[in-house]
Amino acid sequence: MSVHETSDQSRRDFLYVATAMAGAVGAAGVAWPFIDQMRPDASTLALASIEVDVSALEPGMSLTVKWRGKPVFIRNRTEKEIEEAKAVPLAELKDPVARNANIAADAPATDDDRSAGQGKENWLVMIGSCTHLGCVPLGQQGEFGGWFCPCHGSHYDTAGRIRKGPAPENLAVPKFEFISDTTIQIG
Ligand code: FES
Repeated sequence: MSVHETSDQSRRDFLYVATAMAGAVGAAGVAWPFIDQMRPDASTLALASIEVDVSALEPGMSLTVKWRGKPVFIRNRTEKEIEEAKAVPLAELKDPVARNANIAADAPATDDDRSAGQGKENWLVMIGSCTHLGCVPLGQQGEFGGWFCPCHGSHYDTAGRIRKGPAPENLAVPKFEFISDTTIQIG
């Protein structure tokens, strides 16, 4: 290889690198003002909670609300759905942990620990994001009558527990509480 070729080669490399950098800086310069405007203040994000009126939800009805940018499923379960969920032996569960932010991190995935608990066990509140890759599962579908994620075929039961398919965990239960008989505060 001659000296001439070498210097030509490195000059092309340099030009290529310089152009790529100019492109990257240009793009960042344009994108930043938008990102900065859209980014919520960290303290707002941490505190954000919503109140949801569930008085219109009869047994067998569901509502999806948006909380911190994510869908949250609220379901008033039927007696049949509760019975089916309670009848499942824990040993059959793919994910034996409740994944409920309101109780101990290692609590078992019993129906009580997945639902709003004693006296309100008809209520399920869960983040509507499949634990496989985050698609939004469809309600009252799939082999276990709970939720079905069509993206790669994950089946959840009537307590939102993963029973079949690639999803590794039960649907997450966010922090929530009933602040009146008919109002749920999420967050
Ligand atoms: S994202 Fe739900 S099965 Fe893949």
